[in-house]
Amino acid sequence: MQQVEKKQRENWGSRFGFLMAAAGSAVGLGNIWRFPYLAGENGGGAFLVIYLLCILFVGLSIMIAEFAVGRRTGLAAVGAFKSQNKNWTFAGALGVLSGFFIMGFYPVVGGWSLAYVFKSVTGLLAAPEAIGDAFGAFITASSEPLVWMIIYLAINLVIVAKGIAGGIEKAGKVLMPTLFVLLIFIIFRSVSLPGASAGLNFLFKPDWSLVTGQTVLAALGQSFFTLSLGMGCMITYGSYLSKKEELPSNALTVTGLDTLVALMAGLAIFPALFAFGMEPTQGPGLVFVVVPTIFAQMGGIGPLFSVIFFVALTVAALTSSLSLMEVVVAYMIDEKGMARKPATYITSAIMGVMCILSSLSMGTLAGVKLFGVGFFDFFDILTDKIFLAIGGMLLAIFVGWFMKKEDLKDELTNGGTVAFGLFELWYTLIKYVVPVIIAVVAIMGIAAIEQTSLMIFGIVIILVLAVFSKKL
Ligand code: TRP
Repeated sequence: MQQVEKKQRENWGSRFGFLMAAAGSAVGLGNIWRFPYLAGENGGGAFLVIYLLCILFVGLSIMIAEFAVGRRTGLAAVGAFKSQNKNWTFAGALGVLSGFFIMGFYPVVGGWSLAYVFKSVTGLLAAPEAIGDAFGAFITASSEPLVWMIIYLAINLVIVAKGIAGGIEKAGKVLMPTLFVLLIFIIFRSVSLPGASAGLNFLFKPDWSLVTGQTVLAALGQSFFTLSLGMGCMITYGSYLSKKEELPSNALTVTGLDTLVALMAGLAIFPALFAFGMEPTQGPGLVFVVVPTIFAQMGGIGPLFSVIFFVALTVAALTSSLSLMEVVVAYMIDEKGMARKPATYITSAIMGVMCILSSLSMGTLAGVKLFGVGFFDFFDILTDKIFLAIGGMLLAIFVGWFMKKEDLKDELTNGGTVAFGLFELWYTLIKYVVPVIIAVVAIMGIAAIEQTSLMIFGIVIILVLAVFSKKL
């Protein structure tokens, strides 16, 4: 395989910067907002075990593969596939589309989180019994959540417009370690509450009677979402990585950090949740309703902890949405020859419009349905349940069956200079095991979507992309 010549490809300023940015992409709303409510809804411990298995056998292998494809080609998602095989351009294009769609709802939740930093100290916690209603009223309002979403999106725009080393990397270096410290702080408070052990039991003692097919689907989907896989995000980040770095160990570090933060989020939330006798099955409102309630009941120091928590959540969300935006911007730079700034402005504007629709679909536009669901759910379900899984499966098939084994080995061992003892195991997983697991789970997942028309729409989009991919 010929390595593609790219003039003056930007590079990460340092190994630490890359790790923080990649871990920053992985660690996000997926870990702190989504993981606890999925674990809560799916029985706690049993979900955790299945989730960890998915991370180890599917997620880690795909992350190594994405890094390898990105650095080998030196190109972002679309270009990386295209440079190897024109017929595969659509797999990259699907990734860019997923990035667009995830950014059609992610900044809405990011905006809620930002808003809660301020709401924590402006009276929300004064009336603990009204926190649930206050959340409902806030997200269904027609202008307030839009303002926060736009501020959140604007922060993304400013950082991405500055480019890789200047913006994303600097932000990640400061924000990621901050997040760690903040979470440790909250865990100490949570596990020291009387009655906290029930939460620990819930999280670490699997009750297998609660496991259904849905639990497995939720766990696999979550492992993709939380590791930023299946849409070329880690391909893009890998393309900026220096030839000196070892890919498997970097992938292991990022995966390990991401899993650690999810566990930390669980440790921060469940002990306190059980200590106060609340329900773990509250769904997506878990973080925004339960956590402030917990802190409100703590009295004096509660609002401070609440501020700390939502700063951490906003920070985590930000480093992830930066990566999502970067995938789209990198596509426009690499494939359409645009300059970084205009590419960022155009991308942000389109995302802004999608987010306005998503946010309004909580209230004002609740009656407007696309294929049976509101805008927010449309973007969420389409990416989560269809595009990411199929994107991951396509990547595994592409790497396992359309790239040369020697080239992969060369890339993963830095031309034979470093050891990767598990290469054969990884190759077998990627080539045979991962595609089959994802195919089975994806088919079950797609079939499980209640909105049949949305499912058909998603598949039609993928087929249309496949047909028109040569033009991209
Ligand atoms: N992993 C992030 C989270 O847990 C979200 C995210 C960022 C993502 N980039 C991605 C998800 C790429 C899928 C694909 O919040």
